[in-house]
Amino acid sequence: MPEPLLDVTGLSVAYDTARGPVLAVDDVELSLERGEFMAVVGESGCGKSTLMFAVAGLLNPPARITGGAVRFRGEDLVTMSERDLNALRWRDFSVVLQSAMNALNPVATLAAQYKDAMAAHGTHTAEEIHARSTEVLELVGIDPVHLRSYPHQLSGGMRQRAMIAMALLLTPDLVIMDEPTSALDVVAQRSLMVQIKELQQLLGFAVVFVTHDMSLVSHFSDQLLVMYAGQVVEQGPTRTVFDRPAHPYSRGLLEAFPSIRGPRVPLRGIPGSPPDLSAPPAGCRFHPRCPLVQEQCHTTEPALYQVGEAHSRCLLHLTEAAR
Ligand SMILES: Nc1ncnc2c1ncn2[C@@H]1O[C@H](COP(=O)(O)OP(=O)(O)O)[C@@H](O)[C@H]1O
Ligand SMILES: [Mg+2]
Repeated sequence: MPEPLLDVTGLSVAYDTARGPVLAVDDVELSLERGEFMAVVGESGCGKSTLMFAVAGLLNPPARITGGAVRFRGEDLVTMSERDLNALRWRDFSVVLQSAMNALNPVATLAAQYKDAMAAHGTHTAEEIHARSTEVLELVGIDPVHLRSYPHQLSGGMRQRAMIAMALLLTPDLVIMDEPTSALDVVAQRSLMVQIKELQQLLGFAVVFVTHDMSLVSHFSDQLLVMYAGQVVEQGPTRTVFDRPAHPYSRGLLEAFPSIRGPRVPLRGIPGSPPDLSAPPAGCRFHPRCPLVQEQCHTTEPALYQVGEAHSRCLLHLTEAAR
C-alpha cells in the first residue's frame, strides 16, 4: 500500500477560554489518497474550520493542538517548524477559506498577490509569473484582464474563483477548501462546485471540501466525513452514506437539505442545535436531539463502529456489531 497523501491520526484541538479548555476537535482520524475528494460536513459550530486550520498549520492562540499527528506525504505538520511549513504551503498544499474577501488583500491587485505567492517559492521571472497568473485565471474562467483588478472590483463569485486560482498557482497536491461557496447564491454555488470538480479531474490534486450543506457535495466527493460536536460521527464512501446513512445525525442532515433535483419535500431537518462544546452532553453527544435515542445513549459514549463500508458513532451499531 502506498502511503496516503494526508493521514490525520488522533487529532485534538482545544480553545483555551476563561472557563477552561473547549475541545473543538476531538480525536479525529482521516486519510486521503492522491487525487481523492473528501467532503467534511456538519452544522455550524461542529469544529470543521478548527479541524481544517489544524490540518493546514494555521491555528493561532487561544487554539492549540492537544494531541495527534497530521502526516502530509509522511511528514508530520504538527511538529514541523513554521519555516518548513511555509515552504510547503501554497506549493504542496493550499487553503481556500470561507471568505475570500478576508483572505485576499484588499489593497493589492490580483497580479500583485499572485506574484507575492509565487515569489515566496523560488525564483520565477516576471514573464513566468505573468504567464502562470494568466493561466490559472483562465482555468477558473476569469478574463486575465482582471489581473489588474482589486478584490472589491470583483463579484463574490469571482473573488472565490480568484482565490481558488491563487491556490492552484504552484500546482499543489492538496487543496483544502473551507466553505468556499457558502457566500454565494445556490446557482453560483452549484456552478463553482462543478468547476472545482473539473479542475480537480484536469489537474489531479486532492481536495478536502468543507460544507454545512451536505447536498452540495453528493455528486462530487469520493469520501464523506460527518462531524458533530467536534467528533467524526460517520465516515465512508459518499455514495454509501447518501444511500444508506448509518448515523441518525447524517440522516437528519440529508433531510435538512433535500437534493435540488429530487421531489420537493417539506424540510424536516433536526430540531435544536449542536451543543456548547464547553459542556457537551454526557453519553452520546447527539442524544438530546436524536429521534432514536435510547436509555443507554444518556450515559454510554459511543465509539466509531464499522457498518459495512462506513463507520458510525452510534450505539445502534454497537448492538448490531455484537449480534
Ligand atoms: N476563538 C474561539 N474561542 C473559543 N472557542 C472557539 C473559538 N472559535 C471556535 N470555538 C469553538 O469551536 C467550535 C467549533 O468552531 P468551528 O471550528 O468554527 O466550527 P464550524 O467550522 O464547524 O462552524 C465552536 O462551536 C466553539 O465552541
Ligand atoms: Mg467553519
